[in-house]
Amino acid sequence: MKVVRIGVVVGVVLLGGCTAHKQAGQPTATSGTGVKQPVFSAGGKGIGDRYFPAYGNGGYDVADYDLSLRYDPVDGGLSGTATITATTTQNLSRFNLDFKDLKASSVTVDGAVCATREDDDELTVTPPAGIAEGKRFTTVVNYVSTRTRKNTRNTTGGWLPAQVGGFALGEPASARTWYPVNDHPSDKATYKLKMTVPAGLQVISNGTPSPQTTSDGWTTWTWTEASPMASYLSTVAIGHYRIDRSTHLGRPMVIAVPSSLPADSPPAQAVARTGEIADFLATRFGPYPFDAYGALVLDDSRIDFALETQSRPTYASTILRPDNGTSVVAHELAHQWFGDSVSLKRWKDIWLNEGFATYAQWLWKEHEGELSVQDSFDQAYSKTEWKLPPGDPGADALFAAPVYQRGAMTLQALRSAIGDAAFFALLKSWPAEHKNGNAATDDFIAAATRAAGGRDMKSLLTTWLFAAAKPPKPSSSER
Ligand code: TRP
Ligand code: ZN
Repeated sequence: MKVVRIGVVVGVVLLGGCTAHKQAGQPTATSGTGVKQPVFSAGGKGIGDRYFPAYGNGGYDVADYDLSLRYDPVDGGLSGTATITATTTQNLSRFNLDFKDLKASSVTVDGAVCATREDDDELTVTPPAGIAEGKRFTTVVNYVSTRTRKNTRNTTGGWLPAQVGGFALGEPASARTWYPVNDHPSDKATYKLKMTVPAGLQVISNGTPSPQTTSDGWTTWTWTEASPMASYLSTVAIGHYRIDRSTHLGRPMVIAVPSSLPADSPPAQAVARTGEIADFLATRFGPYPFDAYGALVLDDSRIDFALETQSRPTYASTILRPDNGTSVVAHELAHQWFGDSVSLKRWKDIWLNEGFATYAQWLWKEHEGELSVQDSFDQAYSKTEWKLPPGDPGADALFAAPVYQRGAMTLQALRSAIGDAAFFALLKSWPAEHKNGNAATDDFIAAATRAAGGRDMKSLLTTWLFAAAKPPKPSSSER
């Protein structure tokens, strides 16, 4: 049902005992009795992503998440309050938040108690009165996590309690397992996290730290991410960490390594080069896009990958081996431009994240004198599987090797076609034009065409991104 009249909203409201009242100045529709009444409708339970129809929600746009949470050392549980500031994009009778393995104890909108429903990883909130289109509103959710150390042993992704502390991490979705959220990269927001833990434990998250405060044996840590962030890029880690705080180019740099790892271990050595690698990438992609730098290393057998969590990438200790450590750091730092600052409009375009981050690894390896970009291309060209189109890999193959390798090869093919000067100008203009925003493959094709002086790059790029067969090797004579 697309349009719900206010009378229907009153029916829903009976569930929660709220009272509805007519608001002034709203659009009206003529009901069956001929009386003009405001038209309100429910926000969609998905944001419209073909790959993940239930991800995100319709009807509003979040500006800020203010999370005030507490970690319980007895069972590893999380609880707290999320204050979500958003603006309606329609006359809204009710709306959803993504909400998985969480339980709400109370929900208010602008201070008014709301009726709620929880099912299918969604929290449905029905305020006592509809909210007019374009109105800013504040939702406060008190909640607990239903995940505990005992029941999450086999769970991957999202909030994972550990023996001491825990952490939250995962792509394409993880945020919904630790706070109510519009869980899709097309709705980016700023964040503040206050996390209260037993004194002696450390808390690491995105962005810039504020001084922590301690009372009665509990310490509250505060982290602020002031640049809009996609929800899957939010993270928190609680545990015993060595935290190295410094500044880099005048911005805070926070590098956290588990106390269980020696200070000179390969993971610690790799992340110690964060500033140097970010500076190299800035020479290729333009200014580093965020207020803070850093790294977070995890030492937990459930995690064996890295993720480009905003301003502070997360690395499983096992992935930062002596032979490949800085290449992984270059990959995750490149995502700060490609994925984090310029975020996806929809998951289908994942190559815009992974192809660029892989290309950055090729650039870094060349810079380090390990392997030229052309050699990286040639290796990938000889061993890639060509059936899976990186421009539309399908939800189940979002992170398949061709998304990374053929995505990067696509960029090298474009470079061959338009020449180094135009290509490297594009690598800077693209993140500049979409800074803190969202983009899609079509936007990139248009940008590449502009970079090529108007020569249409659509056919070249669609062949590399979508053809089910190996495209011809680009000839270097075109450069
Ligand atoms: N985006 C990550 C990277 O390439 C990889 C990744 C895919 C991932 N799925 C994940 C990381 C789930 C953590 C969780 O750097
Ligand atoms: Zn990646």
